[in-house]
Amino acid sequence: MPAIVVLGAQWGDEGKGKATDLLATSQPIDFVVRTSGGHNAGHTIVVNGEKYATHLLPSGILTPGATSVIANGVVVSPEALFAELDGLIARGVDVAQLVVSANAHVIASYHVAIDKVSERFLGKNQIGTTGRGIGPAYGDKVNRVGVRVADLFDEGILRQKVEAALEVRNQVLAKIYNRRAVEVDAVVEELLSYADRLRPMVADTSLLLNRALDEGRTVLFEGAQATMLDVDHGTYPFVTSSNPVAGGVCVGAGVGPTRIDRVIGVIKAYTTRVGSGPFPTELFDEDGANLQRIGGEIGVSTGRTRRCGWYDAVVARYSARVNGLTEFFLTKLDVLDTWERIPVCVAYEVDGVRHDEMPMTQTEFHHATPVYEYFEGWGEDISGCRSFEELPKNAQAYVQALEEMSGAPFWAVGVGPGREQTVVVRDR
Ligand code: GDP
Ligand code: IMO
Ligand code: MG
Repeated sequence: MPAIVVLGAQWGDEGKGKATDLLATSQPIDFVVRTSGGHNAGHTIVVNGEKYATHLLPSGILTPGATSVIANGVVVSPEALFAELDGLIARGVDVAQLVVSANAHVIASYHVAIDKVSERFLGKNQIGTTGRGIGPAYGDKVNRVGVRVADLFDEGILRQKVEAALEVRNQVLAKIYNRRAVEVDAVVEELLSYADRLRPMVADTSLLLNRALDEGRTVLFEGAQATMLDVDHGTYPFVTSSNPVAGGVCVGAGVGPTRIDRVIGVIKAYTTRVGSGPFPTELFDEDGANLQRIGGEIGVSTGRTRRCGWYDAVVARYSARVNGLTEFFLTKLDVLDTWERIPVCVAYEVDGVRHDEMPMTQTEFHHATPVYEYFEGWGEDISGCRSFEELPKNAQAYVQALEEMSGAPFWAVGVGPGREQTVVVRDR
């Protein structure tokens, strides 16, 4: 199976890092690729009890022998990239095999400034972004005033591009947000200062990946963000500014859809969300606080507390559909160990009408209230289970019930943060 996509099936933080790590240790992986988003992501992997967090880099940077790729669809902050690399180097990680697309767009300091100031301007309507400049960088890309990685190697072109970008951005900063305009010279100087270190990493990553696939090598596309944060298919406008869905992987890598073999949706046994936006199964009671505490639900990038709620099978079915999932990886089942009764949202009610599928409009989604079915808890620690049969009967029944209502088969179930804390349901 040479091309595997791992993506988030809810609102992020499902355990994509763990899924990558698990796949990379159960079979040889030649390339691990990020295709969208930037350092707004935070992926955790736990190796021999030691915790690592990656942001802009794929967590596959920790996989010995694999080449990490930052493909064209990613927005790259060179400052964040080098800080992350230096952090890993300091911990003894070999980061030599990293390739960055010449066509990836660059996040400069003005994108970060605009992200922060525009959020403040939105007041109570703010998106709750990570403040990393992601939206403004993608905005410049779509407005055709973006700066790409290759531009950093030609000062004349870089200056032209920065001038074009700042022509509008500075007007907005000064006249709308009442901020000081950004100096072209300062930005050019800042970006040029990264060029020497970046140059040896830069390549045509579409060519590299397609050749690798031609040779039968294994490529793992490690998603960031998630389906419900997708700018087209998520809870717009409370989304990120890229396409974390499976289709976005092809665009973001320059690899055709016919090359993809497996599309794995990572999904928690409950639901979390960071930032603003609708969340039908969100809990505001003790159960929510307990999910947050037991699940350790604190953002890896921003340190924000994650909102928590029950499993939402409507979201799962929607993710299975828009991504064409071949399977799910269900994570964090162990977090539910202590509940006597576990609610699962099987449908929504919107203004008195039952919806088994995602409502068509955002307004309806904002009005959706969950229709719950209840499952018996198992009341014991499952973190030591290593096969499906070892799980308590009620845990097996919970997993089977979720699988039946989620629209794709379950490949494996996570029972703890470590890679070995996994129960394979179906071998692939
Ligand atoms: P990502 O952004 O999708 O990679 O996920 P994050 O790393 O932001 O958040 C997932 C968190 O859950 C991390 O702290 C993981 O170590 C942890 N985790 C992943 N799988 C499991 C699991 O099966 N059980 C438990 N208890 N923790 C898990
Ligand atoms: P991983 O890869 C969870 C959320 C932000 C905010 C919205 C837009 O770790 O799953 P942005 O800075 O992207 O413009 O913010 O998207 N968000 C995430 N939430 N996990 C992530 O990444 C996220 N990346 C962005 O909280 O609501
Ligand atoms: Mg995360």
